[in-house]
Amino acid sequence: MTAFLLDVDTGIDDALAVAYLAALPDTEFVAVTASPGNVDADQVARNTLALLELCGRPGVEVAIGAREPLSIPLLTTPETHGPQGIGYAVLPEPYGAVSARDAVELWVEHARARPGELTALITAPLTNFALALRMEPRLPELLAGVVIMGGSFYYQGNTTPTAEWNTHVDPHAAKEVYAAFEGQPLEKLPIVCSLDTTERMELHPVHVRQLAEAAGAKVAEEVLPGQPEGQPSTSDNTLVRHLSDALRFYFEFHRRYDQGYLAHVHDFFAAGVAAGTLEFQARPATVDVETGSTLLMGTTVADFRGLWGRAPNARIVADNNPGQAFRELVSRVGALAARLG
Ligand code: BDR
Ligand code: CA
Repeated sequence: MTAFLLDVDTGIDDALAVAYLAALPDTEFVAVTASPGNVDADQVARNTLALLELCGRPGVEVAIGAREPLSIPLLTTPETHGPQGIGYAVLPEPYGAVSARDAVELWVEHARARPGELTALITAPLTNFALALRMEPRLPELLAGVVIMGGSFYYQGNTTPTAEWNTHVDPHAAKEVYAAFEGQPLEKLPIVCSLDTTERMELHPVHVRQLAEAAGAKVAEEVLPGQPEGQPSTSDNTLVRHLSDALRFYFEFHRRYDQGYLAHVHDFFAAGVAAGTLEFQARPATVDVETGSTLLMGTTVADFRGLWGRAPNARIVADNNPGQAFRELVSRVGALAARLG
C-alpha cells in the first residue's frame, strides 16, 4: 500500500496521473491538494475532485492552499490544457465539496500524524510544498519519499528556451524546496522527473485505442490527426471518453508546437515513479533555480560533479522505459475503466 499526499494543478497529464494512481489496487489518497498552475487553484480543485469521483475514489479530501506563486503573479496556460484544464473533456459536477481546510496545514498535519509512511508527489508548481516546508522544516524526515515533476537539465525548456513550466510558474518556491533538502540522506532526496526524461513519455493515438480496447469499449477509439479539431469522443465507456477528449486537446497542442500528434505525459511518469511501478534510474545532484534574471527566470541548474561544494539535494531521473510505462498505463487504467463501465 502506498499512501499519497498529492499536490496537482490538474491539468491533462495530472488527470492521467490521478487516474493511473486511482487504478492501482494499493493506493491510498490521504489528501490531494491544488496548486495554481495550469489553471487557477479553485478550478484545479474542482477538476481534481470531479476526476477522483469519476475514477471511483469519492470522499478524498481535496483542498486549496496558495492561490498565487510566492513572489510573482500567476500565469496560467489555457492554450496547453484548455480553458478548464482538462482539454476538451467536460467533467461532471462533483457531488462532494472542496475542503474548507488549508492545503498546507493538511500536509503538515498528515505528515506529523504518520511519520515515515506518506509518499509526496507534486506534479505542479512547488508553491504549496514550499509553504509546507516553511511550516514544518522536518518534512523531509517525516515523509517516506518525495517525487517532483519539474525542471529541465541541460535540455530545452517548454516555457522559455531554458525553463520548464512548473518551475517557471513559481521559481522562488522551487528554489526554497531544493534548498530545504540539502544535507538530507540520499534516500530522502526528492526524485525529480524533469523534461529530459518526461518528454520521452510520448502518448500516441494508438495508446488511446489500446486503452479503449482494454476497457472493453464497444466502439474503437480513434483519435486521428486528420479528424476535425475538438471532435468529441463517442465512446460508450465514461472514463475512456473523458480521457480521450482530454488527450485530443493535448495532441493538438503538441502538433501546434511541431512536436507531432502526440502528448508528453510528464505527470503520469512521475506518478509511476512515486508508486514504484515504472522503471527508472536516477543520479544525485545539487539543484538550484534561477530567480534573479529575466532571461533565465525559472531555469534549473544541476551540479552533478560537486563543483559548487554543496551537498546533493535531489535525485534526477536519468533514464526511463516508455514501452514498459505505456503497457502499465493501458492495462491499469483500462482495467479501471472496464470496472467502472
Ligand atoms: C508540467 O507542466 C504542466 O503543464 C504539466 O501538467 C506538467 O506538470 C510539464 O512541464
Ligand atoms: Ca501538472
